[in-house]
Amino acid sequence: TKHFLGLKGLSAQEITSILDRAAYWEQYPIKIANQLQGKFVANLFFENSTRTRFSFELAQKRLGAEVLNFSAAESSVQKGESIYDTVRTLESMGIDAGVIRLKPIGVLQELAEKIKVPLINAGDGNNEHPTQALLDFYTMRKHFGEIKGLTISIVGDILHSRVARSNLWGLQALGAKVQLCAPDNMQAPELAEFAPYVSFDEALKADVVMMLRVQLERHDKGMIKSAEEYREQYGLTVERASKMAPHAIIMHPAPVNRNVELDDELVEHEKSKIFTQIANGVPIRMAVIERALS
Ligand code: CP
Repeated sequence: TKHFLGLKGLSAQEITSILDRAAYWEQYPIKIANQLQGKFVANLFFENSTRTRFSFELAQKRLGAEVLNFSAAESSVQKGESIYDTVRTLESMGIDAGVIRLKPIGVLQELAEKIKVPLINAGDGNNEHPTQALLDFYTMRKHFGEIKGLTISIVGDILHSRVARSNLWGLQALGAKVQLCAPDNMQAPELAEFAPYVSFDEALKADVVMMLRVQLERHDKGMIKSAEEYREQYGLTVERASKMAPHAIIMHPAPVNRNVELDDELVEHEKSKIFTQIANGVPIRMAVIERALS
């Protein structure tokens, strides 16, 4: 089975081939292709989403697939049905692939061992969010021409971030240098052997400053004292952004907590790639779905 669970262990060549295929789809002259005609793809979101869910749906429809949308809130999960029984149910009905987002850590790996249709990771606890990282790489490659040799600072709530982990694994494979910056209580110590923790001043010298959302829904009480204090210490403010190199860019997976990790004025600033990242999510997801079903 061609599950697509993460970027850890993928080679530069495999990543590059997905980016190249996304470039093909970005240029594709007609809106709906027939590559996946007759294939049924289910979007299985057990956790909320706007960007990932809709760009997967757009990607599936652009490839000519039949799309089924499942949302846990309206399903028999509310009667206590497990994630496994839910996915197994959809599989037994005959779906050809499932795009899945889950909150609990480790469940996707277990599902992948039992489910035979390809599963595509659309966000797995704090483990990986591979299509987000791929659209980030696509955005970087388009802006800089090449990813090898770039320095990328990932700043903020590293502890809870699957985006940080997928970016770290993929960027290292591609030959970029990754550095992390986070308050003490949002660091993931197990990542320190792969990427150093640096000060915010140091982080601002990078080619890419990637800000992360403070994931309040995953926090224990009191992880941040207040939005104002977080902004003061770990927010990318207009003043801090003015210290970045002229060629450097700001990225953020979104949704953004405006004026917490990123100042309102920076969201659509000329340095910001946030809406470009979102746009690039569609061709990236076309390439990933096509790969899983080919
Ligand atoms: N970046 C991202 O995954 O956004 P959603 O949670 O809205 O899908």
